Amino acid sequence: MAVIRVELAGRGYDVHVGHGLLEEAGTLAADFIRKTRVAAVADRNSHAHHGARLEAALAEKGVRVDWFITEPGEQAKSWAVLEKLVDWLLELGVERGDHIFALGGGVVGDLTGFAAAVLKRGCGFVQIPTTLLAQVDSSVGGKTAINTAAGKNLVGAFHQPSLVLADTATLDTLPPREMGAGYAEVIKYGVLGDADFFAWCEENGAKVTARDPQALEYAVTESVKAKARIVAEDERETTGTRALLNLGHTFGHALEAETGFSDSLLHGEAVALGMVLAARYSARLGYIAADDAERVTAAIAKAGLRSEIAELGLSCSGEKLAAHMLHDKKMDAGTLPFILLGGIGEAFVDKQVEMADVATFLDGELRKD
Ligand code: GLY
Repeated sequence: MAVIRVELAGRGYDVHVGHGLLEEAGTLAADFIRKTRVAAVADRNSHAHHGARLEAALAEKGVRVDWFITEPGEQAKSWAVLEKLVDWLLELGVERGDHIFALGGGVVGDLTGFAAAVLKRGCGFVQIPTTLLAQVDSSVGGKTAINTAAGKNLVGAFHQPSLVLADTATLDTLPPREMGAGYAEVIKYGVLGDADFFAWCEENGAKVTARDPQALEYAVTESVKAKARIVAEDERETTGTRALLNLGHTFGHALEAETGFSDSLLHGEAVALGMVLAARYSARLGYIAADDAERVTAAIAKAGLRSEIAELGLSCSGEKLAAHMLHDKKMDAGTLPFILLGGIGEAFVDKQVEMADVATFLDGELRKD
């Protein structure tokens, strides 16, 4: 088991990574349980797969769990569900000094974290992420949000959890496609800031997605270490460091928008394709060698992810994809910052990218054989 500290003045917290951690939740989370009952949020799937394990672990300490169970999927990140959740928490008498438990993927974590941020002006929460994507990305760093009619994650708060328990055994029940989507965020840490870790991913990606316990634990641990470093340096994404985590997201967002944010392209799958595009666009601008861009492409393909946007069969133009990007919430004073590569492991923010050139580049990618 690994314990990674997210160093934040006065609000630092530990992320535990290990196989079978859920059984130890009563002990590991003891400092965050003050009463004989805790409120926990899960979706129907995470509750069915892991709810009894959490209940048993807390029962060992004489603690019972009250559940708020959502339908799986992004729809749970809505004003309506947030309202129900907050009313339920108030009815239970949850106080500012209490901690709410979030057992599930990014949707459950984002919803619960945002409810915790606003309940009584901010109470505590504990993240127990049960998807690879949530373990390596969304459960760490305190971004919480719901979606609105205008777009995804447009209403939210920075609110850090008090503890994260990433039990890699919970990934045993994750569908293979979601393993792949989560793995895209693992590779991302190598591509953006750690060439050695990227080389490790090139060798071991298939083992991670096949859930080899050692490879999986190593991949999650290294990813969390990278995220913890970045969050400690730039918690609120103001200096440009945290923005590097958006590698692949601007191109990916355009693909998600074009496919209607539907199951035909999961977020992590869009990020994987977005990383390929960011790497190839960096090569087009002469920032990296074309061979390095193709190394990124090959590592993504080797993990079983789609690596060519032509495979999506989109009939739109590059200009239309570029237009989607301008609705990205990362727009800043009329410019769209792109995360590009100066080398593998050397991402940087480029605020001078010309959208007309991006559109031409995307036309070429859309039509590739
Ligand atoms: N998922 C990007 C971030 O936490 O900043």
